[in-house]
Amino acid sequence: MSHIHIDIAGLSFGYEEGIPILKDLSVSFHEKDAVGLIGANGAGKSTFLKLLVGLELAGTGSIRVEEIPVEKKTLAKVREKIGYVFQDSDTQLFMTTVREDVAFAPRNYGLPEDEVNRRVQRALELVHIPHLADKAVCRLSGGEKKLASIATILSMTPDILLLDEPSVALDPGNRRNLIHILNEFDHLKVIASHDLDFIWDTCNRVLLMDRGQIIADGTPDGILRDEALLTTHALELPLSLSRIRPG
Ligand SMILES: Nc1ncnc2c1ncn2[C@@H]1O[C@H](COP(=O)(O)OP(=O)(O)OP(=O)(O)O)[C@@H](O)[C@H]1O
Ligand SMILES: [Mg+2]
Repeated sequence: MSHIHIDIAGLSFGYEEGIPILKDLSVSFHEKDAVGLIGANGAGKSTFLKLLVGLELAGTGSIRVEEIPVEKKTLAKVREKIGYVFQDSDTQLFMTTVREDVAFAPRNYGLPEDEVNRRVQRALELVHIPHLADKAVCRLSGGEKKLASIATILSMTPDILLLDEPSVALDPGNRRNLIHILNEFDHLKVIASHDLDFIWDTCNRVLLMDRGQIIADGTPDGILRDEALLTTHALELPLSLSRIRPG
């Protein structure tokens, strides 16, 4: 088996006593998986991604990232392997300027400064924002913050990408560019999104969650064309797959 994989077994989690959010999830992700994580508001998508990267640790069951159990003492190692884009960019970006934020991870891994600068430049170019390098993070627009957040993970060359609503706030050109970047990244990625067209364009596997459980796990063709399944779980067909009904 390839070294890039995530194995989750019997995972349950709640933020508050007596209110379960994730309920006994067992699933494995493999090197070539591009997984679209879909489900209604509150289904548990973001919670699930946070647990994978150890931002919440109080769950029961097990999560192993490339054989490393996700727990307090392994967090640094796990996060070296995973690039994670938060749903909320304001949580992701914490330095003063875009350049400092994008440089943070490679600098933290002790790379020489010229390599850090090279990576920052390349990451900014990939998401088309070199002109924002020295701009204050707090003065960015919503979409610019999302692009800067994505650049912070592209500068660290991770094995695995976890992205929570990456297309939110992006204009059509930047959204299309992000689809291209993600399709070029040929390792494991998990993308939580309500933009089912984006999932259709980037994923080869889809997990449908509802109230903390995995309801369906299959191909985009099998799940994203299943109008009855999607409707039952408060979703709709992707626009590109909806039939145009005669007026
Ligand atoms: N810090 C928290 N404390 C208590 N409850 C929380 C907390 N964060 C999330 N929740 C609850 O956990 C449930 C799952 O939330 P989560 O953010 O994982 O859903 P989601 O599927 O990502 O939804 P969305 O599509 O709106 O992003 C929701 O009912 C939410 O209210
Ligand atoms: Mg969410």
